[in-house]
Amino acid sequence: MPLLEELKTIIEHEQRLAGPVVPLPHPGREDSGRTSASDRKPSEMARNASSPASRMAPSGNAGSDLFRNRPVSGPGAGSSRSPYARIHALIPAESPLHDMNTLEEVEAFVRDNVLIPLDKTRKKPVFGTGNPDANLMIIGEAPGADEDAQGEPFVGRAGMLLNKILAAIRFEREEVYIANILKSRPPNNRNPLAGEVNAHAPILYKQIALIQPKILLCVGKTSATTLLDRQDSLGAMRQKFHDFHGLPLLVTYHPAALLRNPGWKRPAWEDVQMLRERYDQLMGNAA
Ligand code: URA
Repeated sequence: MPLLEELKTIIEHEQRLAGPVVPLPHPGREDSGRTSASDRKPSEMARNASSPASRMAPSGNAGSDLFRNRPVSGPGAGSSRSPYARIHALIPAESPLHDMNTLEEVEAFVRDNVLIPLDKTRKKPVFGTGNPDANLMIIGEAPGADEDAQGEPFVGRAGMLLNKILAAIRFEREEVYIANILKSRPPNNRNPLAGEVNAHAPILYKQIALIQPKILLCVGKTSATTLLDRQDSLGAMRQKFHDFHGLPLLVTYHPAALLRNPGWKRPAWEDVQMLRERYDQLMGNAA
């Protein structure tokens, strides 16, 4: 079949499966699946909707789920879903998180439940902080002593440095969303155990699905290896954009590591400049 004919057949087939073909993303931009007024974040939809049902099925998207996801089956179906639907699908089917529609509900779930022993020994749960509509989400490892006492991520020395790094690339702390893999402090700041990560990571997936950031920054090895599902050195993971189920994800040094090794500040600076540049491209701010 001539090439043009073949393309037309493929497009018609895709349209039948998944509705109208969306415009190709601008060169150099990631298509994060949120491009127009009719393609809003759940928090934006929630503001305009009165019932949970109306939040789940925004007008004009009949038959779609919360993530504008049509029930498509067959080969290649996964890639036609938005990044947020794909990330939401990482949550185990039996988890109560599945049916939650707001960050407040998820925060109450974290506050009121003991999923791992650390949830009993913590002073305060550390859910996450910042703009619920953030386009940039920063993901750390676990709360330390200061965070445990205050119930907010990155408020200790590492947090002060994180704030400075953000300011250096023209972000206010309040403009982004900051969360950790673990919501409870491990004793003596030991590394999270695999079981702890497995139990808490779905909370983070839910946060990402609800906030719908356009880009993710993992600070430190734990958050990067958890999200990317690979065991690698931080050095091997930084300086490139990874694809986290359709979302661009950059890895850089943890601010606590920068406090211990100031020599890593320069490479970290290079990383966050890359982040800012890609952010500006995604937001249409590029020079
Ligand atoms: N380190 C982290 O990874 N997260 C915090 O919230 C504080 C320190």
